[in-house]
Amino acid sequence: MNDVILYEVGPRDGLQNEKAIIPTDVKLTLIEMLVQAGFQKIEAASFVSPKWVPQMADHSEIMQALQAKEGVIYSALTPNMRGFEAALAAKVQEVAIFGAASESFSQKNINCSIDESLERFKPVLQAAKKHNIKVRGYVSCVVGCPYEGRVLPSKVTEVAAKMLDMGCYEISLGDTVGAGTPKDIRLMLKDVLTVISPTNLALHCHDTYGQALANILAGLDEGIRTFDSSVSGLGGCPYAAGASGNVASEDVLYMMNGLGLSTGVDLEKLIDAAWYISDALGRAPNSKLAIALKK
Ligand code: HMG
Ligand code: MG
Repeated sequence: MNDVILYEVGPRDGLQNEKAIIPTDVKLTLIEMLVQAGFQKIEAASFVSPKWVPQMADHSEIMQALQAKEGVIYSALTPNMRGFEAALAAKVQEVAIFGAASESFSQKNINCSIDESLERFKPVLQAAKKHNIKVRGYVSCVVGCPYEGRVLPSKVTEVAAKMLDMGCYEISLGDTVGAGTPKDIRLMLKDVLTVISPTNLALHCHDTYGQALANILAGLDEGIRTFDSSVSGLGGCPYAAGASGNVASEDVLYMMNGLGLSTGVDLEKLIDAAWYISDALGRAPNSKLAIALKK
């Protein structure tokens, strides 16, 4: 078992925010390269409305074409029963529901209040349980909201605890705007950790303000061992203007390697994947390491 789990979200969180629609075969090649690099958790698609996020409209094709591999879990976002049923038909292995600690963000992102979102998630959790599918829960805006500013740690704890009680196996805490600093992350985590074990938590840092690696280090200090990241630093959220990509997987991996923490991911192969997708997008990778280690 590795010391740290890197949960690769680039094919979903990364590519959902690209202006261009990426061809399905490019996405599939990217995902296969990430598997070859050693990731065991890959968020591959999103079963949301194609009117809202056209970049993810090929979700079923993607899920059906993925090559099953022992030890590798491909997951997808499913905001409601409609999404869950489509994901189930496409043979999804793990799903994620996504809520927020901010009312305004919840409205902009999924068109309902926090309470309404929790009601929508309930049948998804029930159906997932019936089909033996694990459910991950996201809480967005854990330190700040693009519409409301500062978010109280107690609100994050409240929503995260409700989602865990409903049956999620893990709650991924998202700094959606990427404006949090290590102090904010620590304060938020200390509150959440009063009711949730670190083994049920993950940290999902966007790097908009360049704080993500420092925030992950703060998370490690607080006992978190699962971190979401995105190959080549792809990503953002269409409903958080200005939010840049997730922290780059290769930058996180380099830090973990330096700290002597095992992840099971191969740096060279990951850099190849970062260049593959960046070349397909026609731009340089959004990561320090892929630039520094270009072959
Ligand atoms: P809604 O408009 O409230 O839902 O959308 P509705 O039930 O009223 O349906 C409206 C239309 O959408 C209908 O179609 C439905 O059939 C359709 P119409 O009759 O108009 O043709 N519809 C769907 N189509 C496909 N798949 C579905 C689905 N559900 C309804 N699952 C909904 C609610 C959540 C679907 C919508 O608001 C939506 O798709 N939002 C997109 C949200 C999104 O993808 N955001 C980005 C991901 S979250 C994120 O990036 C944050 C994260 O990374 C963590 C972090 O960084 O903090 C996870
Ligand atoms: Mg995100």
